[in-house]
Amino acid sequence: MKITPARRINGRVHLPGDKSISHRAAIIASLATGPSRIANFSPSDDCAATLSCLEKLGVGIERHGDSVRVECGGGLRPAAAILDCGNSGSTIRMLAGVLAGQDFVSTLTGDDSLRSRPMKRIIEPLKMMGAEVKSREGRPPLTVVGTKPLKAIRYELPVASAQVKTCVLLAGLHAEGVTEVLEKNGETRDHTERMLACFGVPIKSLVDDSGSRTTSISLNQGFSGRDISIPGDVSSAAFLIAAAALLPGSRLDIEGVGINPTRTMFLKQLQSFGLAIDIEDSGDDCNEPVGNVHVTPGAGFDSKGNLIPVRGGLIPQLIDELPLLAVVGSQLHGGIEIRDARELRSKESDRISATVKNLRAMGADVQEFEDGLVVAGPTLLRGTRVDSYGDHRIAMAFTVAALIAEGDSEIAGADCVAVSFPKFFEVLESIVER
Ligand code: S3P
Repeated sequence: MKITPARRINGRVHLPGDKSISHRAAIIASLATGPSRIANFSPSDDCAATLSCLEKLGVGIERHGDSVRVECGGGLRPAAAILDCGNSGSTIRMLAGVLAGQDFVSTLTGDDSLRSRPMKRIIEPLKMMGAEVKSREGRPPLTVVGTKPLKAIRYELPVASAQVKTCVLLAGLHAEGVTEVLEKNGETRDHTERMLACFGVPIKSLVDDSGSRTTSISLNQGFSGRDISIPGDVSSAAFLIAAAALLPGSRLDIEGVGINPTRTMFLKQLQSFGLAIDIEDSGDDCNEPVGNVHVTPGAGFDSKGNLIPVRGGLIPQLIDELPLLAVVGSQLHGGIEIRDARELRSKESDRISATVKNLRAMGADVQEFEDGLVVAGPTLLRGTRVDSYGDHRIAMAFTVAALIAEGDSEIAGADCVAVSFPKFFEVLESIVER
């Protein structure tokens, strides 16, 4: 994809449904009795992979535009074929939790990227619960030998991961006793908890004095389908918002976007840099807060020339926006330091390495660490050829970098944006002024 620099952003957009919430809605609706209708379902390839796996497991799926009807009569059935999760870590890890509690065997796999990603983090708790999970040295394909019923466990997350938390909680629906998940390394997104509660499933979450969170769920006897609507995807919004924030004189209004506090840390970071971003609450959808985000042609950066540190408990709340934050950091007076983010090396690509290489190619001064990077700023980025490394968020983060750069850029392998935001380039073109 060829990108020419932009003068500013100007427009109003309504974004497709959140990818994280859509996965959960489809999976939880498949476990319910009776039909559910999900409006504003994510058009992402990742969520399409979830729907296709569920269909192979005997779930009735009807898709009309952005609306999906889900109904599973009489429980999941063994799939006749291997379940292909494509590029989606959420699909494989969440479905493994569901399949662990069935009385049949399933095999899950995915593309080259997914087959290289770590799965020990879900294999261990599922084994503790009594399921058998075979893997290729801790990586997919995974063969899940379901066990009925599973045993409830109390499990402390060794890595701050919402996907692992979700896997254990969904297995907990089919486990005898009370399953508890403890988060001590930072709070992760809570969409599973909210979606289960929205479907009427009892689930409790408590934070103790030390700040650790325990979420508990019990063996479930059944719940009913319902009609819900998915809020706009705040992680997709982040790219448009960053472009508007970085291009002086921009104005952008995004309506009906999810503003769950476990997902808005990137916007709060931009506000803390002095950028004029307003978040306005407009209500609730499927137990999730929804609002409007406005970027106004107000103040630019007010950083004082000190390196801005981003680390510790902030990292899980910014996890998908860190490559983009590094791009923003290249424009800060003093630059940015992102640490404690080793997890980025196990995403759809090694996002530390991809971000470092692309920023360097554009002329930025970047230091790479095992758990993060330091980008000096402010830097006038130079347009050049960069690589998506097959990773949707790298493609979109460097599209933003290309918009603020001097000279034209090319993003190799940019079609991977379809993994989360198929119309990214069209939506962007509709609001870019040159
Ligand atoms: C997700 C959780 C995060 C995130 C991913 C989606 C989810 O992964 O990076 O894009 O929907 O639960 P981890 O939980 O593995 O960090």
